[in-house]
Amino acid sequence: MSTLPLLELRSVGKSYGSNRVLSDFDLRIQPGEIVSLIGPSGSGKTTALRCMNFLERYDEGEVWIDGQLLGYSGPGRCEADRDSEAKVDKVRNPLSMVFQQFNLWPHMTVRENVMAPLVLGKKIAKAQARDLADQALARVGLGAKADAYPARLSGGQQQRVGIARALAVKPRLMLLDEPTSALDPELVEEVLHVIRSLADDGMTMVMVTHEMSFAAQISNQVVFMEAGKIVETGAPQSLFLTPKTERLRQFLSPWFNRSLTPRTQVTP
Ligand SMILES: Nc1ncnc2c1ncn2[C@@H]1O[C@H](COP(=O)(O)OP(=O)(O)O)[C@@H](O)[C@H]1O
Ligand SMILES: [Mg+2]
Repeated sequence: MSTLPLLELRSVGKSYGSNRVLSDFDLRIQPGEIVSLIGPSGSGKTTALRCMNFLERYDEGEVWIDGQLLGYSGPGRCEADRDSEAKVDKVRNPLSMVFQQFNLWPHMTVRENVMAPLVLGKKIAKAQARDLADQALARVGLGAKADAYPARLSGGQQQRVGIARALAVKPRLMLLDEPTSALDPELVEEVLHVIRSLADDGMTMVMVTHEMSFAAQISNQVVFMEAGKIVETGAPQSLFLTPKTERLRQFLSPWFNRSLTPRTQVTP
């Protein structure tokens, strides 16, 4: 017997004007599963992620969160059939998001940044929000930085604050959009370490990433996209080791063919 998916997308599509950037996007995520979205730049990964929590309005198909349709009450995918902000917020309540560029407010301390969605979004009293923020900061190893301003932190620490902010609301599913791609290489590992520890705790996640070995290690399901469509999807072992399409083989080849052989000498 299968349990209700925590998140399900059925034939989801999205256009900007005449540019259809997402089409026929299907996905089912059970509680505890980790899905990685991979694909070239511009393939629609961020758009797909943002449609999952209605930060971007999808205009075809259905997004279901824990059995509730997100964004629309009527049959159409137009303004007239759109839900109120309050209803959208209620349905997407189990989700939270980690952004590529951290999106921290520079004029607020680390603790205030983590408290903001609790106080402003979830209407939680300040004293309780402070406790939840401090717990989340401790969880990502930044309890000692609560009073610092983001500019005093390294990029890796700033992204860990971004993760703490997403964790503090006690989500059941986290969306992560290339959480390490804005970081210098030596700062990537500390962020991956935090994400891996969330995975070990059973957090359900959808992560856009270019970290192929990390995706292979932690994912239950990998989705390869190109030009707004899912080209291949499957368990990481089969998808990475025996890609079915030439396009995925091409996309993965830099990760498998990277060679350290020296340049050939040019003889004068
Ligand atoms: N706000 C927007 N307005 C118009 N076009 C957009 C907007 N956001 C994204 N796009 C276009 O949608 C396509 C997919 O973008 P995106 O989802 O950001 O891809 P990825 O995350 O895979 O790099 C791109 O062609 C991009 O230019
Ligand atoms: Mg993107």
